[in-house]
Amino acid sequence: MNITIQHGNILDVQADLLIVNLFEGVQAPGGATGAVDKALDGAIRQVIALGECTGKLGETTLLYTLGRLPTPRVLVVGLGPAAEFDGHQARVAAAKAIRAAQQAKARHVATITHGAGIGGMDPVDAAQALVEASLLEMHQTPTYRSETETEPRVTSLTVVEFQASHIPLLEQGARLGRIVAESAVFARDLAATPSNIATPSYIAQQAEAMAAEVGLSIQILEQEEMEALGMHILLAVAKGSDSPPKFVILEHNKDRAQELPTLVLVGKGVTFDTGGYSLKRAEGMWKMKYDMSGAANVLGILRAAALLDLPLHVVGLTPLVENMINGHAQKPGDVYRGMTGKTMEVISTDAEGRMILADALAYAGRYQAEAVIDQATLTGAISIALGKQAAGLFTEDETLKARLLAAAQATGERLWPMPMYDEYKEAIKSDIADVKNSTMPERGAGVSTSAKFLQHFVEQDAWAHLDIANMAWTEKARPMYPKGPTGFGVRLLVQLLRTWGP
Ligand code: BES
Ligand code: ZN
Ligand code: ZN
Repeated sequence: MNITIQHGNILDVQADLLIVNLFEGVQAPGGATGAVDKALDGAIRQVIALGECTGKLGETTLLYTLGRLPTPRVLVVGLGPAAEFDGHQARVAAAKAIRAAQQAKARHVATITHGAGIGGMDPVDAAQALVEASLLEMHQTPTYRSETETEPRVTSLTVVEFQASHIPLLEQGARLGRIVAESAVFARDLAATPSNIATPSYIAQQAEAMAAEVGLSIQILEQEEMEALGMHILLAVAKGSDSPPKFVILEHNKDRAQELPTLVLVGKGVTFDTGGYSLKRAEGMWKMKYDMSGAANVLGILRAAALLDLPLHVVGLTPLVENMINGHAQKPGDVYRGMTGKTMEVISTDAEGRMILADALAYAGRYQAEAVIDQATLTGAISIALGKQAAGLFTEDETLKARLLAAAQATGERLWPMPMYDEYKEAIKSDIADVKNSTMPERGAGVSTSAKFLQHFVEQDAWAHLDIANMAWTEKARPMYPKGPTGFGVRLLVQLLRTWGP
């Protein structure tokens, strides 16, 4: 979708459909919406008076202009209560409006920014919200169907602004919004790619191509190099697969590592999780191609860090493996020694995510990082705890926790803090090794015991684990998140990086 910022009067705009907005409860709109209402001889006030248009967040009302404006149709989108208005509401409104425009078969859409006028929102933030949400809502993940799509799509979005001084600010916000959205979509599309295509090698190649495009440093560790580093817990997961494991190391500002704060991001990259010999049930197994969402997010976030030229040294680590079964596969009861020298007993081969993260987090220990943050589709239990409303946040660092919660608030990608009590360590004590990878058959606090397992291998104080298993895929479309992989976590962590201060 082509997006342009245009200086001018909304009443002169030529498009298939024009989007204006309304705060909840407003009877006589002002600003741009008011001007459109006047041009339409009070048609917007009339639909408000009829109770059809209330300004409720995301509500859309379509009007026909019958020659009174150059645009044949006007769509009024609700912004919700003015007192509650923030970036999240601006994004939801933008997503709902562009979706409605698409359903009305519009190709060329014009819009005002939501909230920059009467809403009092900073014009940069307003333009970012508008562009980000519109792109996230409209992006279509490539399919493998033989027949091509014939449904008309919105091909252009023109943001119209009356105030000349706002134009450069809107340009700036639009660029930001595009980078963030396209980075999230990059992660989504990787997660959607079937695992027969998206093998560890394929993802490493995609990372290489992306790194070359945006200017990131990249190193890919092969199996032998991982062996030499002693990453035998990670490698145990890959043993059952014909696809060799890869360990991708991406760096933004590698050459300035000494002068800039370092942040390390780690992402679980299981390209397919059968469960191994602790085999998963058949029903939902096909979806386990998204068990590399954490890794895909890390690639997306590093892409954004490079394009935004953030003044940070950002390291992305993605262990990539396929969890399969063959004559060499790991078995329950096996014991492996990882990079830290600590040993681990396999209770369930389906608790493979924590195994690959154990060695990736150990590797993260070699950077003098201000924070290490991992993202993983780690447990089914996080869905039981939180449903689909927030990812689980596990950390004992109060500063990092506050920063992450602030980024969650700003982006609407919610996090909920979960307990990390030391008593949970009891449950992962092994009779023969330093730690065991599952508490089976005991199932209590499955999320917290998994986080305690990871902590066992972490060498930094400032570490946070995000369990995104419940958020990385959505069964039903939500604003900005069409059905399928969501890229949840990309916007959140890009926001964290953008606001990382001393
Ligand atoms: N990849 C799964 C977690 C998962 C489940 C992600 C559902 C998305 C949706 C993970 O590797 C796993 O299988 N975890 C086990 C851990 C258990 C064996 C301790 C689980 O949650 O059942
Ligand atoms: Zn598993
Ligand atoms: Zn898994």
